[in-house]
Amino acid sequence: MASSNLDCQEYAEQHNLVGLFSNMLQDLTVARPEDPLEWMIDFLKVPKRRIIVTGAPASGKGTQCEKIVEKYGVVHLSTGDLLRAAVKAGSPLGLEADNYMKSGQLVPDQLVIDLVKEKLNDDECSRRGWLLDGFPRTRAQALSMQASGILPTHVIQLNVPDEDLMDRALGRRLDPETGKIYHIKTNPPPADVAGRCIQRSDDQEEKVRNRLNQYHANLIPLCEAFKSILVSVDGNRSPQIVFEDVDKLLSQSSSSQDRAHRVPRIVLFGPPHSGVRTLSHLLVKRFGVILIDGSQIDCSDDSAASFSQLVRLLSQRDSMTNGYLLVNSPRSVAQITLLQNIAQIRPYHTICLSVPADELLRRGSELEGQTTRESVEEGCVAIQSLLQSYDEVFNVIGQSPVISLDGTGDVLEVFGRAVDVILGDVKLEALRSVVPLQ
Ligand code: AP5
Repeated sequence: MASSNLDCQEYAEQHNLVGLFSNMLQDLTVARPEDPLEWMIDFLKVPKRRIIVTGAPASGKGTQCEKIVEKYGVVHLSTGDLLRAAVKAGSPLGLEADNYMKSGQLVPDQLVIDLVKEKLNDDECSRRGWLLDGFPRTRAQALSMQASGILPTHVIQLNVPDEDLMDRALGRRLDPETGKIYHIKTNPPPADVAGRCIQRSDDQEEKVRNRLNQYHANLIPLCEAFKSILVSVDGNRSPQIVFEDVDKLLSQSSSSQDRAHRVPRIVLFGPPHSGVRTLSHLLVKRFGVILIDGSQIDCSDDSAASFSQLVRLLSQRDSMTNGYLLVNSPRSVAQITLLQNIAQIRPYHTICLSVPADELLRRGSELEGQTTRESVEEGCVAIQSLLQSYDEVFNVIGQSPVISLDGTGDVLEVFGRAVDVILGDVKLEALRSVVPLQ
């Protein structure tokens, strides 16, 4: 690799150019302004924040969100408020959500996901940035959001001990006219609004307990989905002191923090019907990497000449700065050696999708109705021999081994596992300066 390429890559990583441009492109395609150039100049002047505030029931999400909106002018989307409005309006969504909410259960994932995606597509959100309050609440919600390319710049988790949460929820009062949140002991409503303040129907002891149980059941998988950018803030202090920490985090220029340390360079392969194509599309949306498909390039023999096009694509500037996802190549010891040793192209992650032959056969027959056991077994043998080839080359050059990724189950779950692997070694300790995640 030419040293000028290395300099360019270092510069891009140091200044987070990938994050900056991918944020801008993502928003530009939503806004579709008449004059894209003028729009881009405006965009670069004001950094857009895409914030998630998460935490237990009554941990102070609504209270902090009010302050964030006031300071940063982002669009506030509270799934709790949106669902309560749907219930009040008697819409089909509201009718379905009502029973779950009344008992303190979570509303089914797909209903909430559709609701949020629709709201985030709004032009205001791309212009001002957004603040999600109470979403995502499950790993499925988090993964579905990431698979659609909806990526936050900040994820803040408010940490409050359970024993204080009950008291906060039971004492909460809401002004239905202004939406302002009060507490009968710690922040009582002024005399002129006290009369109209209401208690939320789910702020009853048993329902709060249910909501807390739901929160704890989902906490670890949810944090895992955002582990590279999630920052935990001690929410057990006065709202103003909590906001000082929140504000500090939000004022850091941190667009796409989770991509800043390492531009992803991934090789993905697997037997036919293992899901390489589906997963590669989701990973491209999630990481903004360049997809390079070896099957579109003539690498039919092992000579260096037939490989030069692939090498050129992998070392071109946008692959260096955005990262790449290489699928369907390399396919033999000679090709792996050419890439790794001759061209010095060394991906950070080489991932093989692992799916049992019976499952591959089932998927294949659903798709084409022509897949035979023999063809599936042939595909598995080819992958097995490719894995051995990787071992041979990687052992010699001391490269990390191929990661075998469980490719069974729900598409989003496979995607989640892949994201975990890719982000597994991203270090963001510097951002965890407030309270380290437990
Ligand atoms: P939602 O409305 O989001 O409720 P929640 O998550 O339980 O959170 P809360 O609104 O109760 O509390 P908060 O953290 O905003 O605290 P607040 O600032 O008000 O969701 C309701 C229901 O909708 C869910 O149960 C579910 O059914 C459904 N739902 C919503 N999103 C969903 C999703 N994504 N998927 C599926 N279902 C979903 O503060 C609480 C009290 O504490 C106030 O009185 C306040 O004054 C006080 N307080 C705040 N900060 C402090 C502080 N620092 N010190 C002392 N007191 C404080």
